Amino acid sequence: MVDFTLTEQQENIREMAHDFAEKKIRPVAWDYDKDGTWPREIIDKAWELGLMNSRFPERYGGVGASNLDGCLIGEELAWGCAGIATTLGANELAATPVLLGGSDQIKRTYLGRLTEAPRLASFCLTEPGAGSDVSSMRTTAVKRGDKYVINGSKCFITNGGYADWYTVYAKTDMDAGHRGISAFVVPKDNTVSVDKHEDKMGLRASNTATISFNDTEVPAANLLGEENHGFKLAMMTLDRTRPGVASLAIGIARAAFEFATEYSKQRVQFGVPIAMHQAIQFMIADMATKVEAGRLLTWKSAAQLDAGERNTLVSSHAKRFAADSAMEVTTDAVQVYGGYGFIKDYPVEKLMRDAKIMQLYEGTSQIQRSVIAKEVLLGRNVDEPAPEQTPEETEVAKQQSETAAAVA
Ligand code: CAA
Repeated sequence: MVDFTLTEQQENIREMAHDFAEKKIRPVAWDYDKDGTWPREIIDKAWELGLMNSRFPERYGGVGASNLDGCLIGEELAWGCAGIATTLGANELAATPVLLGGSDQIKRTYLGRLTEAPRLASFCLTEPGAGSDVSSMRTTAVKRGDKYVINGSKCFITNGGYADWYTVYAKTDMDAGHRGISAFVVPKDNTVSVDKHEDKMGLRASNTATISFNDTEVPAANLLGEENHGFKLAMMTLDRTRPGVASLAIGIARAAFEFATEYSKQRVQFGVPIAMHQAIQFMIADMATKVEAGRLLTWKSAAQLDAGERNTLVSSHAKRFAADSAMEVTTDAVQVYGGYGFIKDYPVEKLMRDAKIMQLYEGTSQIQRSVIAKEVLLGRNVDEPAPEQTPEETEVAKQQSETAAAVA
């Protein structure tokens, strides 16, 4: 039987994240959006409560939360403010390749740095000439003795200006296309420069920077996985993190839906609250359906991961649908508010600006469709065995199947 009921523990996690979003994020979200304020205090508090790095295994200082737990947290934090939620969630993106490909020592060192203090890490994949087309990147890593020397520039890097370390993708074989990319964990030192902080349309409380590596040396032990296997590591990472982005999109959509619903009951036109007009009712109804359907896909994509299954297809379904729905729902919320929706004194125009990035980062909606088309047409999701897992993922899947067997 399929059961969508959350466990008591999951309800508690959701409640804690909601409480934090309501009390600590919402009251400042619109000011932070206006001023582009860096949410340092909120980062510190969220870190203390375990709302950051939640999916890190306990042995590396995390709380060992599941992917579904992570999505419950993501939706609530983004309901508060998607810019702040992105800031709080980006460590998981940087850490996933480390969890997948790092040695025990590397995991202890670098995940430990994030769990022993409220530090940040960034995922450096995108370059000015390599966005969706990852394999055309120009950053290089050249092996010299027992070190790699990295040179190149990465753009649109979340938390880049404040990161303690970076997961960096670079070419180790210029002529091998996607099979010539490797991934490294790179601590910040004086050869790493922050060249630019972007002034963005939305998500203004998050930091987005251009980072350059200038003859940056890292020990060979900082290579994640095998040399020239970095592209696959990036794809496996995105399979695992796209459900989280989908949960942020649902958080934005839900916030817009709630504001629009409430406003439609207050705003009187033609002698009745506008909620009495069928034109408005249908918009509200579509918003409700999109939030619900997006959440179900998001949960499914996370639950598949937690069960140790390959989730590439559903992860892209969830990210694509939730992101596009967030854009539609927030645009309709502005419509329900009418002219007031276009004014910054009202809350929904921020949500519309924040929603846009959901269709762009961690793979555009068009890239998600490409992945879906490939999976559906080639049937890869059906024929291929389960993906390689981290030891921790294998442990979680084993525990879940034992629990399922015991319940049956
Ligand atoms: N898991 C494991 N391996 C995978 C995989 C997956 N999900 N998907 C592909 N692969 C493997 C394939 O099996 C293939 O392996 P072989 O070399 O053995 O043949 C290899 O990877 C190449 O696969 P494809 O031929 O499917 O690759 P492609 O080049 O046609 O397409 C793509 C790949 C889907 C377009 C990919 O490049 C992509 O996802 N692009 C979007 C990048 C992206 O999301 N960027 C976001 C940056 S992060 C960010 O935004 C965060 C921030 O801080 C702002």
